[in-house]
Amino acid sequence: MTVDVVAPLAADALAGLWLDPPVLPTKWLYDERGSRLFDEITRVPEYYPTRRETAILRAHADDIVATSNATTMVELGSGTSTKTRLLLDALAARAAAGVDVTYVPVDVSAEMLAESSTILARDYPGIAIEPTEADFTESELLLPGSPGNRLVVFLGGTIGNFDDDARRAFFDGLAASLAVGDHFLLGADLIKDTGRLVAAYNDKAGVTADFNRNMIEVLRTGLAATGLYADDFDHIARWNPARHRIEMWLRARRDVRAYFAVLQREWVLPAGAEILTEISTKFDPATLDAELADAGLAHVTSWTDPHGDFLLTLSRR
Ligand SMILES: C[S@@+](CC[C@H](N)C(=O)[O-])C[C@H]1O[C@@H](n2cnc3c(N)ncnc32)[C@H](O)[C@@H]1O
Repeated sequence: MTVDVVAPLAADALAGLWLDPPVLPTKWLYDERGSRLFDEITRVPEYYPTRRETAILRAHADDIVATSNATTMVELGSGTSTKTRLLLDALAARAAAGVDVTYVPVDVSAEMLAESSTILARDYPGIAIEPTEADFTESELLLPGSPGNRLVVFLGGTIGNFDDDARRAFFDGLAASLAVGDHFLLGADLIKDTGRLVAAYNDKAGVTADFNRNMIEVLRTGLAATGLYADDFDHIARWNPARHRIEMWLRARRDVRAYFAVLQREWVLPAGAEILTEISTKFDPATLDAELADAGLAHVTSWTDPHGDFLLTLSRR
């Protein structure tokens, strides 16, 4: 973990760990190990969203890029940028026709961002790759590129990690930083059978459990903790019907008494108590498009996969 994440991690730990129930921002799941575990999750049989979103992109990437007429594509929470290659293929065709095109992957996961950008630069020599390490929840997004020709993409259902207020603020902030004519492509997971939803966040191989427990390792190493062990926590994924979202929690298997040297504070969590580490809200298409429209992002087109599991919606400022 780099030095510059210690202060923000300390601030988030102080703000969240002493709440009842304790809560930590989801981004702390994504250190280098967490990012690799998430990549593994995208391939477990229960985790349908990546396959469904890929199918939609395979069918419509050319259309999306043509409609947006983009010369700059900014991707928020780009991760490995694997699915994005379908859009990059379409952008590369524009580059081959003599248009200057740029791809700006934005992510908090520094190692994953550097690694994937190096590979993309090799595979897409016609596209300028400009990796940006940033937190997309912070302040105003400063978007590079010429107004009117930008396409901002936000894939993977990551929008589900925001609660209702944060999502509204995010859409408002994004709309404010886009210029008229810029496009926004959003991938969102849809409400469906509860059993399938819970299974997608609790795979049999235990990869999601390791991903969730990795948050304890991030706390332990980042805040120089003693008495804090990932094995002392169970991974819990449950459906919250009132808020139509999956919630990931870590439940203490025994009384935990940890000391954070960086905070110079002790933290006590009784056996059975839980920490909220991630929410993953599920949507219905009409409500989501109405939220985008409220923020000034007008609906252009949307697509679902043949199973009706996942939504890609394209809007324009
Ligand atoms: C659910 S994964 C999706 C990855 C990829 N877009 C996909 O569709 O498979 C969320 C991604 O967003 C990144 N991320 C999470 N919180 C972030 C934040 N606050 N700012 C920037 N990136 C963030 C993570 O590192 C991770 O790469």
